[in-house]
Amino acid sequence: MALARYKKVLLKLSGEALMGDRNFGISQERIKYMADEIRSVFDLGIQIAIVIGGGNIFRGVSAGSFGMDRTSADHMGMLATVINSIALQDALEKRGVQTRIQSAISMHEIAEPYILRKAIRHLEKGRVVLFAAGTGNPYFTTDTAAVLRAQEIHAEILLKATRVDGFYDSDPEINGNAKFIEKITYMKVLEKQLKAMDTTAISLAMDNKLPIIVFNLKKKGNFRKIICGEEIGTRIDN
Ligand code: GTP
Repeated sequence: MALARYKKVLLKLSGEALMGDRNFGISQERIKYMADEIRSVFDLGIQIAIVIGGGNIFRGVSAGSFGMDRTSADHMGMLATVINSIALQDALEKRGVQTRIQSAISMHEIAEPYILRKAIRHLEKGRVVLFAAGTGNPYFTTDTAAVLRAQEIHAEILLKATRVDGFYDSDPEINGNAKFIEKITYMKVLEKQLKAMDTTAISLAMDNKLPIIVFNLKKKGNFRKIICGEEIGTRIDN
C-alpha cells in the first residue's frame, strides 16, 4: 500500500466545483467524481476533514453587491454549504466511507452541532468529518472557515482544491509564457493579491503557520498524489 506523507488533512472544496458543466446546483457526475477521489485517499487510512463552499447555490458576496444585506446573504450562503455537505455525505457513504456532518449553525435534525472534541473523536474513529455552515458568522468566507477548522483539529496541511494547477506569475490564459509558481510565502500571496484565497484566510494561516497547497482537483488522482508526497500544485508557507 502507498505510504501517506500526512496523517491529518483538511480538504477545502469550492461549491462551484460541484456544478460541473452546469451553471447552478450539483452535478451528479461531479459529486461522484469527488467522492471517488476522497475515497482513494480515505483508503490510505489518514484522517480527512472537509469544508465545502456554497457558491454553486448562493454566493453571499455577490448578493451583497445587488443590494441585499450582507448578513442575510451570508446566512443564505451558509445554508448552501449545508446542502452541499449533505450531497457529498451521501455520495461518500454510498462508497463505504463513514462520515459525520457538523454544522456551525445549529440544525440538530440535519447535522450534529460543531463540537471540536467530538470532531476529533470522529476523525480518530476513521470517519470523514464535513464541517458545514462556514464559521457560522457572516462576513467570513468558507476559505476562512477551512483555515480555522484546520487549525482547531491540528491538521498538518490545508489542501485547497481549485480548477487550476496553482499560481502563475501572470494569467496563463492571457500570457502564454506565464510561469508556474511551485512555492510562495503567505506575505507574497497577500502582496500580489493572488486570488486563490481571501486575505482573512491567508492571514489566519500565516499567523498560525498552517501550510496550504492550492491544487487542481479536476486532474484525476491529484489529491492522492499530494497525500503520498508528490509535489503538485502551489505550496504556500513561510
Ligand atoms: P461515537 O459514539 O464516538 O462512536 O460517535 P457516533 O457519532 O457514532 O455516536 P452518537 O451517538 O453521537 O451519534 C449517532 C448518530 O447520530 C450519528 O450518525 C451522528 O451523526 C448522529 N447524531 C449525533 N448527534 C446528532 C445531532 O445533534 N443531530 C443529528 N442530526 N444527528 C446527530
